[in-house]
Amino acid sequence: MMAGDSTLAGKLKAKLRIPVFAGPMFIASTADLVIAQSKAGIIGSMPALNPRSTAALDEDIARIREALGDDALYAVNLVAHRTNDRLEADYEIIEKHKVPIVVLALAANADLVKAIHNYGGLVFNDVVKNRHARKCAEIGVDGIIAVAAGAGGHTGMLSPFALVSEIREWWQGPLVLSGCIATGRQVLAAEAMGADLAYIGSPFLASAEANTQAGFKKMIVESSSDDVMISDSFTGVKASFLRPSIIENGLDPDNLVRDPNLGISIKDGGANAKAWRDIWSAGQGIGAVKRSVPAAAYIDQVASEYEMACADMTERLAAR
Ligand SMILES: Cc1cc2nc3c(=O)[nH]c(=O)nc-3n(C[C@H](O)[C@H](O)[C@H](O)COP(=O)(O)O)c2cc1C
Repeated sequence: MMAGDSTLAGKLKAKLRIPVFAGPMFIASTADLVIAQSKAGIIGSMPALNPRSTAALDEDIARIREALGDDALYAVNLVAHRTNDRLEADYEIIEKHKVPIVVLALAANADLVKAIHNYGGLVFNDVVKNRHARKCAEIGVDGIIAVAAGAGGHTGMLSPFALVSEIREWWQGPLVLSGCIATGRQVLAAEAMGADLAYIGSPFLASAEANTQAGFKKMIVESSSDDVMISDSFTGVKASFLRPSIIENGLDPDNLVRDPNLGISIKDGGANAKAWRDIWSAGQGIGAVKRSVPAAAYIDQVASEYEMACADMTERLAAR
């Protein structure tokens, strides 16, 4: 970023300690995690569906605002899908609190984008293909989240090099890169590729504030990319899962059978909630997660790695 960068990406980055946006995670991201992330200088986020009701979402956002103040950056993820029967009510809460950033997932929705802009919020939409990014741009989103190969949750399948450069050919707005980013050096690499911010999800599954069982946190710390597999058997859409957790549920990860009736359903508080609760999802970048610590300690670590990587890169460039 240039000093005094007046672009939207520049303005967002100026408010952050490091150019990192936390990926919202179903079940795992709590209001406490959002508060810890944003206080530590990144954009904290959580899915609107994590609090068990719309009233609980209202309470959580009120608590986040109280802890962070009205100037802070945080995001709430709305699943704009017809099977999400809380969409309208949850949106009203988001509007009431003027949530600064709304992350839309699954389906781009022009009316929703307009409504969020009307109250002064920003819309970021996640995409796995350049084609999806163009659709999002057409309906006026402010930022694009490029979900590349190896991401936790519903993963993309493209190399980040291909995805970022194809989108950057025509998109000048804020671009966030998602997938396997877990260290400060990787955050700098995302910027070098052309992204403005790095999206970090899975490493926060091991953080103290995450609503993840002790066994899940331990599995994140002990696992690496070898332990992550992609399957559409649990949600009907390709997502990354931890092989050891599939085995712990009595299933053979190499012989999974996909239920032909499976489709994405957001009913009852989440996309096939049982799949996410019992079969644990994580991205390929978790080899870098060595400890289960409070989110602030992990962000401190990423920030100091980022500083070191910037210094190292400056030296390398000077030596050329
Ligand atoms: C357990 C888990 C649950 C997730 N749930 C959601 C979700 O509800 N909404 C969403 O937009 N993204 C969700 N994601 C995706 C993350 O926001 C983010 O894109 C992804 O974790 C980034 O890749 P990484 O895990 O390799 O850092 C989830 C990811 C994980 C690992």
